Amino acid sequence: MPNALDALREEAERRYRERTPKSGEWYERARAAMPGGDTRNSVFFRPYPLVIEGGAGAYLEDVDGHRYLDCTTNMSSVILGHAHPAVVEAVTRQVARGTGWAAANPWAPQLAELLVERIPSVERVRFTNSGTEAVMMAVRAARAATGRAKIAKAQGSYHGSHDDFEVRGGHAAAGIIPSAGDHVVEFVYNDPASVTRVMEEHGDDVAAIIIDPSFMAGGFLPPAEGFLRHLRDEASRHGGLLIFDEVVSLRLSLGGAQQLYGVTPDLTAMGKTIGGGFPVGAFGGRAALMDRYSPLEPDFLHHSGTFNGNPITALAGLTALRQLDADTVAYVNRLGDRLAHGVARVAAERGVGLHVTGVGSLRNLQFARSMPRTMADVGAARRDVGELLRMFLLNEGVLTARGGLFALSTVTREGEIEGVADAIGRGLAWLRPALEAEAPELVAGRAAR
Ligand SMILES: Cc1ncc(COP(=O)(O)O)c(C=O)c1O
Repeated sequence: MPNALDALREEAERRYRERTPKSGEWYERARAAMPGGDTRNSVFFRPYPLVIEGGAGAYLEDVDGHRYLDCTTNMSSVILGHAHPAVVEAVTRQVARGTGWAAANPWAPQLAELLVERIPSVERVRFTNSGTEAVMMAVRAARAATGRAKIAKAQGSYHGSHDDFEVRGGHAAAGIIPSAGDHVVEFVYNDPASVTRVMEEHGDDVAAIIIDPSFMAGGFLPPAEGFLRHLRDEASRHGGLLIFDEVVSLRLSLGGAQQLYGVTPDLTAMGKTIGGGFPVGAFGGRAALMDRYSPLEPDFLHHSGTFNGNPITALAGLTALRQLDADTVAYVNRLGDRLAHGVARVAAERGVGLHVTGVGSLRNLQFARSMPRTMADVGAARRDVGELLRMFLLNEGVLTARGGLFALSTVTREGEIEGVADAIGRGLAWLRPALEAEAPELVAGRAAR
């Protein structure tokens, strides 16, 4: 007999199948040509992924005609919402004049100028097509500058899907050459003593410490007071560099997390928001480091790519970032605060241990007895229950990402966030009897088993 949580999962999946038959048909068709019917693991879920046809503003529409309030903004990228009129207008005009050529264009330098103007550590920028490539190229710059091979990263952090970082606990993941792990050493996020220990052991070989200051892979667990500063100090003390992977965190302020927390890295990887919704990445840093990529240098670093800084992405990014001013960023960050307060309210009403981690517009739901503060806490949080709530919300027309991830858009209204909190409250009422049976530690008034 299925336990109470399994029974809810079956119920949610049944409702989902009934609502989304056309997504199911697309999935069956996709399976014949794509492994697992999927080409992007982060948006795959059982029984099959939702197929979206398009949308505008804060809403998306699936192939069965249902509308969803999009709380994911394509994993934090379309911060202005979908099909922003200014971006659509600029890009449509340009698409009719060609989408790329083997020559420079006038928009990439303007986007670069804007990033230089806004982001404290960035004096020079190069563009890529993804955050993954941006990180790879920042790492290449760090290795070239230091003559060292190793990179120190936080356990459980995600920096893109390239081999260098596809290691878990020092071991290469399936399909990756085993020695990949030799070049990566890992410390515990928010544990300064662990960073010090790792750097004492490996510091002479470490080209850079890399950190995602939003710590998306760890449920947006915020950096502890002084932790980023400690990374800065440890990198410098051992003659290595500090890389901020701001692919996600850049949206937290106009100058990114580095401006928000007042810690300046040597190199910064960027992506997502800077492409105005198009595929993008960029890396930047001090001129002395970045100029190693200049073809005018005798021993320059190679960096090429057919679509690097392509006109459509560059124009879309430039247009989008011009729309994004300090007030708009403050607004979207306040929406995140509002979500956290709303969830705290409904969690208290329903007597369920549900907490919201994260900063500003980047948030994550966590089923745990108390607010997670460490990676161990996040690891102990009930992701399976979070997945059930995600399915419940999806069936209610609220799109969140796997693991209960929210990355909000500037066109979402405060009332809509209250509506999401209310929907979460209804989800908790639905979950509560099963939690009493299967996870009593999450339910107020129940003793832990
Ligand atoms: C912190 C971080 N770095 C890098 C990446 C990779 O970016 P992309 O998916 O554009 O390759 C991601 C993607 O989510 C990310 O979260």
